[in-house]
Amino acid sequence: MKQVSELTLDEAKKELEFLASEIAKADTSYYQNDDPYLSDAEYDKLKHRNADIEARFPELIRADSPSLRVGAKIKSGFQKVAHSFPMLSLGDVFSIEEVNDFIMTVKRFLNTSDDIAFYSEPKIDGLSFSARYENGIFVKGATRGDGTTGEDITENLRTIKQLPLKLPDGVPKILEVRGEVYMSKSDFFALNEKYANEGKKTFANPRNAAAGSLRQLDPKITAERNLSLFAYTWGEVSNRPWNTQEEFFNYLKDWGFPVNPHNKLCRNLTEVDDNFNHIMEIRASLPYDIDGIVHKVNSIELQDRLGFLTRTPRWAIAHKFPAEQALTTINNIRIQVGRTGALTPVADLEPVNVGGVIVSHATLHNEDEIRRKDIRIGDTVIIQRAGDVIPQVVGVKLEKRPTNSQEFIFPDTCPICGSHAIREEDEAVRRCTGGLYCPAQAIERIIHFVSRDAFDITGLGNKIIEDFYHEGILKNPADIFTLEQRNGGDDLFSSAQGIHLERKEGWGRKSVDNLFNAINEKRKISLPRFIYALGIRQVGTATALLIAKNYKNFDSFMVDMKSKETAKIISIDGIGASMATDMVEFFQEQHNIDIIEQLLQHISIEEFIDNSRNDSQLSGKTVVFTGTLQRMTRSEAKAKALSLGAKVAGSVSKNTDYVIIGADAGSKAKTARELGIAILSEEEFLSFL
Ligand code: IVH
Repeated sequence: MKQVSELTLDEAKKELEFLASEIAKADTSYYQNDDPYLSDAEYDKLKHRNADIEARFPELIRADSPSLRVGAKIKSGFQKVAHSFPMLSLGDVFSIEEVNDFIMTVKRFLNTSDDIAFYSEPKIDGLSFSARYENGIFVKGATRGDGTTGEDITENLRTIKQLPLKLPDGVPKILEVRGEVYMSKSDFFALNEKYANEGKKTFANPRNAAAGSLRQLDPKITAERNLSLFAYTWGEVSNRPWNTQEEFFNYLKDWGFPVNPHNKLCRNLTEVDDNFNHIMEIRASLPYDIDGIVHKVNSIELQDRLGFLTRTPRWAIAHKFPAEQALTTINNIRIQVGRTGALTPVADLEPVNVGGVIVSHATLHNEDEIRRKDIRIGDTVIIQRAGDVIPQVVGVKLEKRPTNSQEFIFPDTCPICGSHAIREEDEAVRRCTGGLYCPAQAIERIIHFVSRDAFDITGLGNKIIEDFYHEGILKNPADIFTLEQRNGGDDLFSSAQGIHLERKEGWGRKSVDNLFNAINEKRKISLPRFIYALGIRQVGTATALLIAKNYKNFDSFMVDMKSKETAKIISIDGIGASMATDMVEFFQEQHNIDIIEQLLQHISIEEFIDNSRNDSQLSGKTVVFTGTLQRMTRSEAKAKALSLGAKVAGSVSKNTDYVIIGADAGSKAKTARELGIAILSEEEFLSFL
């Protein structure tokens, strides 16, 4: 072999190409097929040769170079990546009956009684990723984030040897492959053992370990952690030559992606059920955690017809394994005070392993629940956890009740601020009346304000907010935006209110700068996020979006709420009277208005532009379907109309804009003609799509 110093440019180029493909092949056989054909020494030799040639000819470093598996450290937080095609989640079911219901709904939607084939895939318990390839080269990696925007983890994903960096010729020019990054059980135990020996905090389960390892600002750490992945779906693609889910997996295999060997085509409910039971039996012996089976309609044509609900496809469902249970004892019961003042009893448990996760607390919901289940301190109880939900107490083992068990007396004052805690007549929860005077409520409100679906300020974790609150640095959400101004920095003499964040333990110039940057990025905020961030009782993300769509700007919403004008808000489909009452009450509190006014001095709220649907002719129109449609079922047609921003009504009135008539339309078509309402044929309706 020639010395690197003697290589010509052309020779170097050829050899780098050869090395990239050789090392990729070796990686595949080692990491994917568990069948290494090179010794460690031979492998290292190839890597060194590659590095030496690149050092001499840096201009020749290839996009798929094995040396790029470990990229440079990221300086300040992850960049955001907007998904060109949203990363969805799945609806959950817990029994075969519910799977049957799901299949029936699919059939009804498609108006067929034929069996529908499903592709059933183990649901990997890790975290989802999206890998984008342009002209066959890996160019971008992202986390799911909120489904619309994720974090740029390109350099971290690159360290996972199972991910091909270059795809064979002939792949779609633009191709996003999505799947799950996970840590195998054995790698997880090894990592935890190492951490325990070093006196470091261990991870609760493989999923947390995988998440903690992938979201590392230093990809070197990711590289050390031995992560694995399975591919299972696609995002944006420039063309889509596969006709079924099963075919797609064949492409994935050809392209060099690891796919789960237990994926299986099931032709009917019986096969779906048999496969589910089989996987449940072998579950414990699998080298990675799974939490259920995903059933996907196999035909892509049918998937396209079925389409999507807001966040989930109609053509797939997650069939979860039954909840896992364990026995333990209740050491204590204490009260937690939430953002809206709700007093929630929490049981402190003797730590117990429930299906691989150590559980030491469980929610007891409310005082009625404690009484109904007759739960006492000292009791032995059955703990259950299913999916991501907070562990719950299923029941008490009365035969194990000790003689000194202690009944829990639910307090009628707030244990945090001492205010009265009252329970409205038809409510199950008792609430602290202290409002923002109560530190627990004030802290929870700030935590909510910066949370992912609200202002999404990274760097202000719960513990930091708590500390800052008690030190008087952050008393309310508006204080976040004056923090930089009030900070005296390193300068001992310019002590604006004595705040010197960089001198706090665990903080330095850099982390303080990162925090300020993260805050400053959020001085402009979308209307739905702002409304959600206020933390009004009952106003979640969906309601906030409805308000934004109907009011377009914050001022007009606030004007209505301040003047207790609820007619408009109640007329919004999906918002009821009790929500409206909560909103009005929120805006009657002077301290809430004060905080909003302070906030508005430091941030701007974007006018809401609904660009999802207003380009369609049906947007905002009320339509009625009648008669039998030929090319689609009624539910399919309704779903299409809704997705174009139309309202679908059941009967024709003067408020109807269009009546779409199929075969044998009866009285509705007649009424429409009499009222002079525009009538569309099925073909005309389809032309709107
Ligand atoms: S399909 C539209 N397939 O489960 C398709 N998801 O609860 C959406 N997951 O966010 C995903 N294994 O993180 C799909 N074989 C599989 C999966 C899978 C695990 C995860 C994924 C997703 C979540 C939905």
